Amino acid sequence: MSSTVKPVGSKSDPRLSGRAVKRIAFDEAAIAKRVTELGREITTAYPDGDLLVLGLLKGSFIFLSDLVRQITRPLQVDFLVATSYGDGTVSSGTVNLVYDPETELEGKDILLVEDIIDSGRTLNRLMAILKEREPRSLEICALLHKRIAEGLRYNAKFVGFDAPNEFLVGYGLDHAENFRHLPYIASLQ
Ligand code: IMP
Ligand code: MG
Repeated sequence: MSSTVKPVGSKSDPRLSGRAVKRIAFDEAAIAKRVTELGREITTAYPDGDLLVLGLLKGSFIFLSDLVRQITRPLQVDFLVATSYGDGTVSSGTVNLVYDPETELEGKDILLVEDIIDSGRTLNRLMAILKEREPRSLEICALLHKRIAEGLRYNAKFVGFDAPNEFLVGYGLDHAENFRHLPYIASLQ
């Protein structure tokens, strides 16, 4: 895993409102480079058909908005909302779907975009739900993959980075709804 270790603290970034982060795991430049590559990979992987990019909110909102601008073929965008974490840093284990896309999934190529794969519970549950709607294909694009999900029943075809087994925030990822707006990905103190 290539990650630049740069200590940052509340003094160096006013966005952190006094909370120090341990280190920057992936900086803006590294993210932009990888998202561009992913866009190319995805464009090549879908030479034809109706592509629906389905973002899992809220965590994927920044990644998805950057990613779709690097996919140079026709596509549609919709969102899903699922909750699995409360205010803590450990998965509650229960995954609830609180918003369901209005877009028809049947016969389409669906690319499910997730911020991070941790325990894999969210994806196991969502993939099962989406499969029932008979899309032409169903693949996962995750910005980060902790590679610790033992029970993950699906392979993520597109992965941005292998992530350290730490609690990460920024670029869409939150801790108790904070830090989503950081332009980099950092591990929390
Ligand atoms: P899983 O179901 O355990 O794979 O967790 C997936 C969801 O938990 C992700 O979509 C995130 O919203 C959240 N999550 C997991 N790990 C982290 C983390 O390190 N930082 C912030 N959110 C996380
Ligand atoms: Mg979250």
